[in-house]
Amino acid sequence: MSKKIAVVVGSLRKGSFSKQIAKNVMKLFPSDYEPEFVEIGNLPLYNEDIDTPENVPAEYTAFRDQIKEAAGVLFVTPEYNRSIPGGLKNAIDVGSRPYGQSAWDKKPAAVISVSPGAISGFGANHALRQSLVFLNMPTLQQPEAYIGNVTNILDEDGNVAEGTVGFLQSIVDAYVELLNRY
Ligand code: FNR
Repeated sequence: MSKKIAVVVGSLRKGSFSKQIAKNVMKLFPSDYEPEFVEIGNLPLYNEDIDTPENVPAEYTAFRDQIKEAAGVLFVTPEYNRSIPGGLKNAIDVGSRPYGQSAWDKKPAAVISVSPGAISGFGANHALRQSLVFLNMPTLQQPEAYIGNVTNILDEDGNVAEGTVGFLQSIVDAYVELLNRY
């Protein structure tokens, strides 16, 4: 049976570079893995008042179920103001509740930060890792994946240059090794 990988992209915009990078990475998984995008843009802002058995939004439940069904979670995110975009933090919060039933618990994760700038989303990458520690997600340490100057490596069809494919493959290979340990 193929193992699902939930791919969570921190950007909501249609032309997102992060999403384009994610698409390139998804193609590099072995055939027994099934990476699929999990939508975060439809999640109402997390509010404990509505997160009750009577009122829980259908979007929260669907999102939590998708994460729970996955063997692991691949995060591909831009950096907003040296941290992660609010929509991604909201998704993390939604997935972490109800208390004691976190969808993220023990899911092996990998983080790829993406930026048109030279600092490569380092701040977002590590801000995200801070939450993943608390959420008990064993997270790929090496190779680290900071994709900077992203507009230089994507062609007009959204494909990465040959040299970058090898780098992305090394991330996927190490992540699959991590997944196999759990
Ligand atoms: C940005 N951007 C940005 N870039 C970066 O490298 N470090 C940062 O701290 C920020 N801060 C930031 C804040 C906000 C509110 C926006 C909208 C943008 C620029 C960002 O990297 C750029 O817009 C990317 O194209 C966003 O990623 P996607 O949507 O292409 O995946």
